[in-house]
Amino acid sequence: MRMYDIILKKRNGDRLFDEEIGYFVDGYTRGDIPDYQAAALCMAICLQGMDDDEIAALTYSMARSGDMLDLSRFGNLSSDKHSTGGVGDKTSLIVGPIAAALGAKVTKMSGRGLGHTGGTVDKLEAIPGMRMTISREEFLDQCDRVGLAIIGQSGNMTPADKKLYALRDVTATVDSIPLITSSIMSKKLAAGAHNIVLDVKTGSGAFMKTYEASKQLAESMVKIGKLCGRNMAALITDMDRPLGYAVGNALEIIEAVEVLKGQRKGDLYEVCIALASEMVMLFKGIGQEEARAQAVGAIESGAAFDKMKEWIAAQGGDVRCLEDTRRFADVHPIRHVVPIVSPTDGYITAMDAAEIGTAAMILGAGRSTKEDPIDYGAGLTIAAKTGDKVEQGATLGYLYTNNEEAIPAAAERYIGALTFGREAPQKVELIQGVVR
Ligand code: URA
Repeated sequence: MRMYDIILKKRNGDRLFDEEIGYFVDGYTRGDIPDYQAAALCMAICLQGMDDDEIAALTYSMARSGDMLDLSRFGNLSSDKHSTGGVGDKTSLIVGPIAAALGAKVTKMSGRGLGHTGGTVDKLEAIPGMRMTISREEFLDQCDRVGLAIIGQSGNMTPADKKLYALRDVTATVDSIPLITSSIMSKKLAAGAHNIVLDVKTGSGAFMKTYEASKQLAESMVKIGKLCGRNMAALITDMDRPLGYAVGNALEIIEAVEVLKGQRKGDLYEVCIALASEMVMLFKGIGQEEARAQAVGAIESGAAFDKMKEWIAAQGGDVRCLEDTRRFADVHPIRHVVPIVSPTDGYITAMDAAEIGTAAMILGAGRSTKEDPIDYGAGLTIAAKTGDKVEQGATLGYLYTNNEEAIPAAAERYIGALTFGREAPQKVELIQGVVR
């Protein structure tokens, strides 16, 4: 077999055999196939596409390019969720405890934030003592005992994706449904869960900006997951504005706690209940209405918040911060809390969520390069969202930072991210689609 022939075949729009796809993935991972040939194939895939069987073969080859977690001891209960990433997206911190309180074994490996989107690992590290790197044995034991473990990505999982993603990033080949599907789903397959719920974000703060593109990606990932033997569901959810009111690591933990304590409803609560319901439907094999009632009940009974505390304690986190979230102000003190005031009267008709994420990053909540340090206390809170009517001088939100110099630029970004108008905008649905 020759890599040249594989590239030519795909360039001409022909189907690749499983063996050809496996030859490429194995050879590229080992370093036998050079970057320029891998880049040429990625570009051919971008231009010519792949059918479902080809995408499944690519996904499976990438999944088995490194370590794969064996969760068979949990039978049909092992459950995972994945979000394509957004601003203020702290759903894993809420969905995980709800599902675990209802009997799932939630096993999740999460990433760090980069650019305008935050990462679950960074958020959890805002809790003092929280250990995000634990041995495989401890991870499995915790899933067994507590029903929930969320850790950082470690070990040698999906090395093919690590190499290919870096290559795609610099060769204009990120933007391809077969390549995105295989990248995301290979990591999910390697992480081993039987039930996988996907949250595909759509809108200004999302990776996929339009509903059509988000739906196409959701359908592709669900189909490939099923072809690889997993129980799948995907929601397409709004990211045309940040989710919830907090953006920033400790601030988002506080918001998640408020939702789990039953103190806060609204968009974040609704998306979490919808995602948790999908997970409960998959691992219990029950209908949507019953699953939703159970998810709501887990919050109302306090079982989900108790589960969060049990999980955080198991990973060394200080649960006193969850019981009394004012403690975060001592753990991650913030010198400057600055209100953002409305420059005009009117309705907020649009929010550029990515710009608001960037404002939080500038304040110290995120990284512009992988090496940047994080200020866990920094970020922003949002007091008015799309559809809200505001008066000139009204408080739109607050900036939290220890970097005084960052305030003008962050404030400018925040205000610039908002569009004001005289008429109320059309209501946008939070849950825009379901793919099962
Ligand atoms: N996220 C991933 O993990 N992979 C992609 O290709 C795109 C987004």
